[in-house]
Amino acid sequence: MTGRKLLREEIEQVWNIDRSEVIDNVYHLESGTLVLRPQYFEVPGWPPGEAEKYTPILLDCFDRGGWFHGAFDHAALIGVVVLENKCIGKHNDRLQLKFLHVSIAYRNRGLGTQLFELAKTTARARRATRLYISATPSENTINFYLRLGCAIAEEPDLELLELEPEDIHLECEV
Ligand SMILES: CC(C)(COP(=O)(O)OP(=O)(O)OC[C@H]1O[C@@H](n2cnc3c(N)ncnc32)[C@H](O)[C@@H]1OP(=O)(O)O)[C@@H](O)C(=O)NCCC(=O)NCCS
Repeated sequence: MTGRKLLREEIEQVWNIDRSEVIDNVYHLESGTLVLRPQYFEVPGWPPGEAEKYTPILLDCFDRGGWFHGAFDHAALIGVVVLENKCIGKHNDRLQLKFLHVSIAYRNRGLGTQLFELAKTTARARRATRLYISATPSENTINFYLRLGCAIAEEPDLELLELEPEDIHLECEV
């Protein structure tokens, strides 16, 4: 496996990542506390329309200086991490981890952790003090971020919260 910066013309390949997942439990935030509830569903892949909706958003992010890093197995893109360039938070010191996905066949081998740590290093180099993550509320995803030292965002970003109200909004020191 190899890792490198993604080129603008490679961004559409993120939709080749196999997003499928079986979810047994989902987290909810209740009075500031994470509560895990059984909720079974099978994610067959990217939802219909996802590529059409998010490709322009990712391209805009790239054009304003966002950081895109890919992991490849030979020529196949099997993991991607994206860091926003626009600072948020009342002290303008947070950078959003905008995208982190690993193809199902490559999960649970440490690749997600590696990509997350690279994003932290990059955020630090860009003079941010924290990463902000609007995270899918599934058990595996939230446990992954908690294990890496993330915690519930004390002051959730209102714009991002409005976009993804079901997500768990997390932060992590870099
Ligand atoms: C969340 C996600 C990015 C994690 O990627 P990953 O490559 O599986 O991450 P890791 O392998 O580093 O860690 C996953 C688990 O594998 C375990 N693991 C790490 N290295 C391992 C190794 N060498 N051998 C066995 N297990 C290992 C970790 O302990 C971790 O357990 P956790 O459940 O406590 O977190 C990935 O599961 C994914 O793409 N999920 C679907 C999309 C998604 O939710 N993205 C985040 C959107 S906010």
